[in-house]
Amino acid sequence: MTKEQIVKIFHEKFGAEAPEVYTSPGRVNLIGEHTDYNGSFVFPGAIDKGMIAAIRFNGADKVKAYAIDLDESSEFGLNEEDLPKEGWAKYIFGVCREIIKRGGTIKAFDTVFSGDVPLGAGMSSSAALESTYAFALNDMLKLGIDKFELARVGQSTEHNYVGVKCGIMDQFASLFGKEGHLIRLDTKTMEYEYFPFDPQGYKLVLLDTVVKHELASSAYNKRRESCEHAARTIAKRHPEMEFLRDATMEMLLEVKNEISEEDFMRAQYVIEETQRVRDVSDALERGDYKTVGEKMYETHHGMSKLYEVSCDELDFLNDIAREHGVTGSRVMGGGFGGCTINLVKDELHDSFVADAKEKFKARFGHEPKVYDVVISDGARKL
Ligand code: GLA
Repeated sequence: MTKEQIVKIFHEKFGAEAPEVYTSPGRVNLIGEHTDYNGSFVFPGAIDKGMIAAIRFNGADKVKAYAIDLDESSEFGLNEEDLPKEGWAKYIFGVCREIIKRGGTIKAFDTVFSGDVPLGAGMSSSAALESTYAFALNDMLKLGIDKFELARVGQSTEHNYVGVKCGIMDQFASLFGKEGHLIRLDTKTMEYEYFPFDPQGYKLVLLDTVVKHELASSAYNKRRESCEHAARTIAKRHPEMEFLRDATMEMLLEVKNEISEEDFMRAQYVIEETQRVRDVSDALERGDYKTVGEKMYETHHGMSKLYEVSCDELDFLNDIAREHGVTGSRVMGGGFGGCTINLVKDELHDSFVADAKEKFKARFGHEPKVYDVVISDGARKL
């Protein structure tokens, strides 16, 4: 939706006075999955799909919000007990509350928003929504909160108002995204580096299973608990260790008998994935996309067999990619449905997509959705 379109809808809902318009994107992640809550590395980039919102302070004591795509309205106050019942409104409310908790004063506003980042596809539509409002309110109210803290505002919204104990990757990518660049973020130190990403002769393609499994958020939180338990157990012998990211396989093996088999598998995945992100950084610097691709397949295998966040649909797409000679492919994001991200040679792109659509439909009764990835800028005023 363009700025003009959203402003028009705003006027229809809330009258003639002009709103401000902000946008914030979803993200892809090349590699480094389920590592961000383990103090490890991620490799995301913002995409050309996101959320757009028109906002104007209303001088009243209630926020009035309209979700254009759902044709639903919500009205809520700004005190802790005013949690709205609409799922989408909780994100906006949570962002306001988290800013207030950090000492910021929020004035009530009228707003309409819309998005083109697919919901539940693993491209972080919720982080795009949080970042849009966090960035906008900070800018409009001149609160002076830096972008790292704005990312934490979004993350705490997930923790405290949505119930997902997520890491920082999605909100970070949505706020810090830069056109044509992926970002390697060290979630322990919050140091980050932009990597130009323009692989000559390759495309990044997302295949969306359009499957979203129930209980994904409780399964996500459970993975996090497993990792933290393994990390705490290792830290008893190695007190210098802060996050699972600091552990080696040798250290994990020392506590094998003290943790469950499940926790062991989760931790093994994280330790291996940490090494893979390092390998991919080196490979990217050499322009070695073959290695990047191999690591992506290894990640898929780990996410499927050790971390157990894949599903039949995702594994099926991964198999098709491999059979088709695609350079790299893996489940992207939290898992339990959503997309695979595929690094495909230009000349294979069309035949791979056609092949995947046909075989997937024959097996599951519907085609996957296809998105070509364009790496774009982060949150901004329009
Ligand atoms: C979700 C979370 C992120 C991250 C990914 C998995 O997108 O919001 O913090 O943990 O899953 O890498």
